Amino acid sequence: EKGGYSTYMEKEINEQPQAVGDTLLGRTDEQGRLTLDELRIDEDKLRQVDRITIVACGTAAYAGMVAKYAIEHWTRIPVEVSLAHEFRYCDPIVSDRTLVVSISQSGETMDTLMAVKHARELGALTISVCNTHGSTIPRESDAVLYTHAGPEIAVASTKAFLAQITACYVLGLYLAQLRGGSYADDAQQVLTELHDIPGKITELLDGMERVREIARFMADTRSVLFLGRNVGYPVAMEGALKLKELAYIHAEGFAAGELKHGPIALIEPGQPVFIVVPGPSTPHGLHGKVVSNIQEIRARGARTLVIAEHGDTAVEPFADEIIRVPSTSPMLAPLLTVVPLQVFALELSSAKGLDVDQPRNLAKSVTVE
Ligand code: F6R
Repeated sequence: EKGGYSTYMEKEINEQPQAVGDTLLGRTDEQGRLTLDELRIDEDKLRQVDRITIVACGTAAYAGMVAKYAIEHWTRIPVEVSLAHEFRYCDPIVSDRTLVVSISQSGETMDTLMAVKHARELGALTISVCNTHGSTIPRESDAVLYTHAGPEIAVASTKAFLAQITACYVLGLYLAQLRGGSYADDAQQVLTELHDIPGKITELLDGMERVREIARFMADTRSVLFLGRNVGYPVAMEGALKLKELAYIHAEGFAAGELKHGPIALIEPGQPVFIVVPGPSTPHGLHGKVVSNIQEIRARGARTLVIAEHGDTAVEPFADEIIRVPSTSPMLAPLLTVVPLQVFALELSSAKGLDVDQPRNLAKSVTVE
């Protein structure tokens, strides 16, 4: 049942190309335009949306953070991400033109369910991004956009995360398409690139041996930091969460720009730091800014584990290790850059002899508030 893999998590990591591919499948017409009739929401109603709030917990909330950058960039609709348990009890500002998107693999997370119910009571339009057919959150929402990751058994979420990001991209690009004009043209181009992602994940998964080796050498490590910027920031947070959950190692994800505002004080000789580097074509010179961050922490003795696109030579002088990922458009990069971090956490956990699929104190679906 584990398909030749020794753990469900490893199997599920390897199913990610399919999870992304299947989530895209059947959602474009012959002209290559997105069709989301399955939502059964009047297009005019979606055109009137003037604000989006994403509610979710844990890994699903990091998918939401990725979605915020992408949807705002593609549609110029303001998007906010709220942890569902915070949203529910903070007196949220919601109108009938607010779209509340919940993200949940299980569809049973009580915190997320309560947030959705509350949003509906307040008059918002609610869409559930969910992996489990017939579960509670989709039933309690106005519409559902299913992720097609297949059943996720390992407690730590991997393929569902990639499918959640993919579904949110689909939703964002669809909203851009509805806006028309140059928004729609740009959306078409990104959609083409999105279809290339499953093949790129496969290519990436084939080259993970060095990441495994690094993880095995680090079995005694007590703390790991993760830095990222823009869409790389939630990837850094997700990398840290995976390591906490699976290997019980203290880990923190930071926005790279925040480094000089405090966290750089943590850097001491030998401190391992993963850095998720934006592709060189990322707007606003963010690539160069993150490369300077690597330089700064290396100068203070950090051990720099750099995740960078193929051909990005600028990182070379400051990297102790370079993990290469295929290049793609900047907003889509999380579907690639998170993969080595998942593999790293998995391998470190098994190097420590821990139960990868069932980490201590955690349950697959959290059905209490
Ligand atoms: C992390 C993890 C959790 C879940 C969170 C939400 O690996 O599995 O953080 O992502 O509990 O669960 P769902 O998506 O089922 O609502």
